[in-house]
Amino acid sequence: MKPWPYPHVIAHRCGGMAAPENTLAGLRAAARTGCRAVEFDVMLSADGTPFLIHDETLERTTDGHGFVAQTGDAWLRALDAGIRHDPAFAGERLPRLEEAIAACRKLGLWANVEIKPAAGHEAHTGEVVARVLARHWRGEPPLLSSFSGTAIEAAGSRAPQFPRALLVEDLAGDWRASALRLGCRAIHTDAARLRPGGIEAVHAAGLWLAVYTVNDAQQARRLLDGGVDALFTDRIDAICVGAATGP
Ligand code: G3P
Ligand code: MG
Repeated sequence: MKPWPYPHVIAHRCGGMAAPENTLAGLRAAARTGCRAVEFDVMLSADGTPFLIHDETLERTTDGHGFVAQTGDAWLRALDAGIRHDPAFAGERLPRLEEAIAACRKLGLWANVEIKPAAGHEAHTGEVVARVLARHWRGEPPLLSSFSGTAIEAAGSRAPQFPRALLVEDLAGDWRASALRLGCRAIHTDAARLRPGGIEAVHAAGLWLAVYTVNDAQQARRLLDGGVDALFTDRIDAICVGAATGP
């Protein structure tokens, strides 16, 4: 198996806690802090446009209400995606995937793009995300991941040139068979649920292992020393800086 070719520390939801999640301000914070890689979540609007957002509903991260998948582009663009994090970020907008791609390019950031379909929109979301990335991304190809096998399959059919990763909450289920069937290169899972032997089992299947969400610098060091290929962190201030961030 080839070594993991990407940075070992990945800023979670763009800039972790340093900025509102899944925003361009987060990407700027990640770059400013010295991160070279980011993860963000992508979901479709009611118009079928891919936006960066984690939840199916708008309330937690914006000043809007209702479901992302039932809200059109113009409404989504009018929302404030910064003020719930900190009034200093008031006016921050929900970014479209295209804008995030442009920002990553400008800032020199590699990305793990998590396809986060609203329920019932799995295949369409995978297809659209792959299509937009194929059209606009330049440089080291992003790694596409999802908890949805259907989304990964659709993305892989549309843009097989992008490597894929299967997200699983733990290593208890049929992750090995699913990942191999989907042509995935990696498993991404919850660090808190990783058990002894887990890292070796993933590697024995010929897959890389990345874990979320690691916010303690000592734990990050232990995991990387123990063979985990990469980790996602909200504490970019403590972990991107001074960690081994590159292959
Ligand atoms: O992709 C890793 C991690 O982001 C998965 O969990 O819920 O933060 O998207 P979540
Ligand atoms: Mg995510």
